This record gives sequence, C-alpha cells and structure tokens, in this order.
Amino acid sequence: MKFFVDTANLNEIKEAASLGILDGVTTNPSLVAKEGGIDFKQHIATICEILNNPKASVSAEVVSTDYEGMIAEGRDLAKIHPCVYVKLPMTKAGLQATNTLSNEGIRINQTLIFNATQALMSAKAGSSFVSPFIGRLDDIGHDGMVLIEEIREIFDNYDIKTEILAASIRHPLHVIESARVGADVATMPFKVIEQLLKHPLTDIGLANFLKDWEKTKK
Ligand code: E4P
Repeated sequence: MKFFVDTANLNEIKEAASLGILDGVTTNPSLVAKEGGIDFKQHIATICEILNNPKASVSAEVVSTDYEGMIAEGRDLAKIHPCVYVKLPMTKAGLQATNTLSNEGIRINQTLIFNATQALMSAKAGSSFVSPFIGRLDDIGHDGMVLIEEIREIFDNYDIKTEILAASIRHPLHVIESARVGADVATMPFKVIEQLLKHPLTDIGLANFLKDWEKTKK
C-alpha cells in the first residue's frame, strides 16, 4: 500500500519523507490556504524536490470549475514537474477534463468521490487515481469503508487499473481498514502518520529496557 501525506506544509512533508515510507503528497485548496501567501506553483515544485523520487506523486488541484479553465490549469500544473498529478473534482466538467488531459498523457487524481458510480465513471474517463473521501462520509452517518470495498470489487471485476486512493482519513483505523479492503493508497494527515508508528507498550518496553540497562553499570 502506498502512503501519501495529505498536507501542503513543507516541514510535515520533510519529516514524513525522512521516515522512508512516503510515496507521495496530496494537496487541496484548503490545505494550500493554510500555508498563507505562497506561490502555489513554486510550492508544488518544492514539494516534488523534497520527495526527490521519480516514482513519487504530488497532487495539485485546479480551482476552475469550467472545462476550458480546468484544461488550461491542468496543463499548466502538469508542466511543473514530472511527479505532478492534476487533481480534478468529480463533476461533469471535471470528468470531461479528465478524459482530455489523460489522453494527453497527464495523470489525473479525481477528487471528491462519494459513490461507486462516480469512481467507475472517472476510471472509464482515464483517471490514474480516484479519491473516495471516507472521513467525510463517516461524518454524515455513511460508512466510508463500504465505498472503498465497493470500488475495489468493481475495479477488480473489470480489471480496471485506476488506483483507489483512500482520502479524508481521520485516524489509524481508517488506514488499517483501507489496507484490509485493498485500497491502493492511503493519504493521511501527518498527525495520523505519527499515530501509525506509535504504541504505548513500545514506549513502556523501551523505558524498562533502558532502566534495566542502567543496572548493569552498578
Ligand atoms: C484528499 O486528497 C483530500 O485532500 C483530503 O483527504 C480531504 O480530507 P478532509 O476531509 O480531512 O479535508
């Protein structure tokens, strides 16, 4: 399973990259806005440089809502770096733009996916990633994980190569469940990456080992 960090914060990206488990970064307009007055394209270029891995993927989202605007923005974003995936919303214009840009060889992450038909349509149009938002579905009383399972089953039925990118992850259980049902990628806030590597028994065990080690010196 690939791990992406869902942030535009350079320090978080550097720290996640230093762990040796990071396969990519997803950003969205809200995450970029949190970083204050940055030059968006330069910022995406910097993220790609930090990852320093030709296989990494960095999602940069368009803000146009019309087809022509998405095409222009998508082409522009794709030029920033070979690692860039253009993030397009799952709307009619977004689907049309996915088809056009993917035919030009630009890789697309279709975002804001909330049902299986959206995922299937996106894959048929040529997306590389579909991003079902599990946390936001959970928030409204739907089981986000069921959506990942449905998309996995459908994609497997037809040998669809589009990758399932579990997004809107809120806690480690989302990551475990996404892995169990076969999501290809999990994108998560840096806080969740930190939570994944921790266990209180690890800390207690280490403290006890070190305490006992001190006894060897007496
Ligand atoms: C995915 O690419 C999105 O940026 C993200 O996962 C949204 O998560 P949220 O629902 O926590 O904002």
